Amino acid sequence: MSKYLITGGAGFIGSNLVEKIVSQGDDVVIVDNLSMGKLENIIHFSKKHVSFYKEDITNFNFMEKLLVSENFDYIVLLGAVASVANSVQDPQKTHLINQEANLNIYEIIRKNNLKIKKLLFASSAAVYGDEPTLPKSEESVIRPLTPYAIDKFASEKYALAYGKLYNIPTVATRFFNVYGPKQNPESQYSGVLSIIKDRLVSDEVFTMYGDGNQTRDFTYIDDVIEAMLILLHDHNVKWDVYNVATGKSTSLNEIIKTFEKVANKNLKIKYEAKRQGDIEKSQADVNKIREKVGFNTKISLEEGLKRYYGRKQD
Ligand code: NAD
Ligand code: UD1
Repeated sequence: MSKYLITGGAGFIGSNLVEKIVSQGDDVVIVDNLSMGKLENIIHFSKKHVSFYKEDITNFNFMEKLLVSENFDYIVLLGAVASVANSVQDPQKTHLINQEANLNIYEIIRKNNLKIKKLLFASSAAVYGDEPTLPKSEESVIRPLTPYAIDKFASEKYALAYGKLYNIPTVATRFFNVYGPKQNPESQYSGVLSIIKDRLVSDEVFTMYGDGNQTRDFTYIDDVIEAMLILLHDHNVKWDVYNVATGKSTSLNEIIKTFEKVANKNLKIKYEAKRQGDIEKSQADVNKIREKVGFNTKISLEEGLKRYYGRKQD
């Protein structure tokens, strides 16, 4: 049996990951301040196997006590302000969470010589920015446009450099646009597909920022969880970064059409100006993760949207 620490474990990706880990018989400790995550995402897990601390990851003393006392096998750093637009509105606050809190965790591991099996840091496709060459491989030009992207790149580089310098097994993942059950649609900063689903269900108007021709590599949550578990458990994976995505790109206009077909409804749309710092085109090159660990996504966009729409309660 292994013990995991998952920061941001009450959030979208985190709570789906906890579900999978618990189903495999392992134990999880979650630290989440519930700024975007929800208790209802995790409340049903057995208290014997899942402990929850409603805490801020910027509470450095708390994090140090927890890490030193618990002897975690695996650490997954998902706790963050996940919205690019939110980081543009509030750069300093998001920096403390998205970068300094992670550095603090690496430092606790180093100073206390903690023996972990793997630390995974959740980085982002946002680090590539708007350099026009597509698809983006891990070797592509890095041109972060926003505080969010700068902090992700720094945290990712720290994770890998700390790993090599102090012999801590670390890996970073650059997720592209993940969607699926438990993504919280309630904020203006929520992931776009959670908002579109919510507006389709409620018949409310969706606000499109820009003309809808911006593209993303939309990736279903179950594929992302599978990739994370492979990267965590493969001993040969360390001190490296991997794109996690489908390799396909879809515009917002196209995905709305597919979602309307799945829901058998039309989405009401109003248009506003493009958001500052928004990336126009995004698509992953997924050769590295395919070749190094044999991972391929399995769920097509239409299948993913069907599964997502079918889960009305999420
Ligand atoms: P999410 O907002 O659902 O999850 C983040 C969680 O972190 C939330 O539960 C939130 O309450 C928690 N959190 C935020 N600030 C905190 C703080 N100061 N202390 C403790 N907890 C805090 O978002 P998600 O989509 O599940 O994203 C998880 C991670 O993956 C994030 O780091 C995000 O940047 C990264 N990521 C997500 C995507 C995506 O498409 N969803 C893509 C690339 C990277
Ligand atoms: C998303 C993730 C980010 C991740 C990145 C990786 C969220 C909230 N953001 O950022 O964590 O690092 O992918 O690629 O999960 N839009 C609208 N109307 C809305 C909301 C959004 O038109 O109501 C547009 C945005 O302007 C943008 C696109 O939809 O053009 C996607 O936005 P969003 O879901 O916030 O994702 P990213 O910014 O790509």
